[in-house]
Amino acid sequence: MSEAKQLPIGLFDSGMGGLTVFKALAQELPTESLLYLGDTARLPYGTKAPSTIVRYTLKAAQRLVDLGIKMLVVACNTATAAALPTLRTHFAPLPVLGVVEPGAQAAALASRNGHIVVIATEATIAGGAYQQAIVRLRPDAVVIARACTLFVPLAEEGWMDGPLVEGVARRYLEDIFPNQDRRQRTSPDTLLLGCTHFPLLQAALQQVVGSHVRIVDSAATTAQHVARTLKACDLLHGGQGAGVYKFLTTDNATRFARTGSLFLGRPLDAKEVAVVDI
Ligand code: DGL
Repeated sequence: MSEAKQLPIGLFDSGMGGLTVFKALAQELPTESLLYLGDTARLPYGTKAPSTIVRYTLKAAQRLVDLGIKMLVVACNTATAAALPTLRTHFAPLPVLGVVEPGAQAAALASRNGHIVVIATEATIAGGAYQQAIVRLRPDAVVIARACTLFVPLAEEGWMDGPLVEGVARRYLEDIFPNQDRRQRTSPDTLLLGCTHFPLLQAALQQVVGSHVRIVDSAATTAQHVARTLKACDLLHGGQGAGVYKFLTTDNATRFARTGSLFLGRPLDAKEVAVVDI
């Protein structure tokens, strides 16, 4: 087997959120090794200016590239929206995939009436990447976009549900999702989680938006994109054994392991997490 095929796939996010994509990738491609970097020292990215996000993103990606990867997955919507073309140019010919296009595809497919709400960080919403990607795929779509800044610290804190999380969600979303009595044919039927942190809050969000609303995110569709791209580039591992997983953070391994366990849905020990400076 060629040396390149044996290299890991590198993924990064500002924090723990990208682990939702990591989990989907591990399920889709169990023989692939994965190298994850959470830039927790600089979190959040979502409230920063685009130029700052591009600078942080280049540093995080460079560290993974230096360690040796066969593909880069930008497991952060904010970084994808701000920096995907820059990353592709900078690291060519390395395949670089983002999460916005796969997320938009998931929403465009899931919605029956084309009324889609996308929630994400302030920077992602302000840049308009999701709104444009959805309408490109589905020109009849009516997209409402809303920044939900506080969902990121809630998820990083591991607060997934309960009255406080639902209260915050209600404050952000209740004017968009009418209750049953006021619901119409044109009320949104799909909620797209345009931030990789948000799937952790899915149960609470479902309570708030109602059970008739489909909640989708980019994790599974991104994993399918990765599989297709690896195949097209002849980079699939193709071996028998399970992939090797490594976790890097730019700050506090204990905290990364604690919250990371919630995102991965399995225990993660601080000893499995290396702290790096980038
Ligand atoms: N997980 C990141 C995303 O998908 C955002 C978190 C942050 O604000 O740093 O956009």
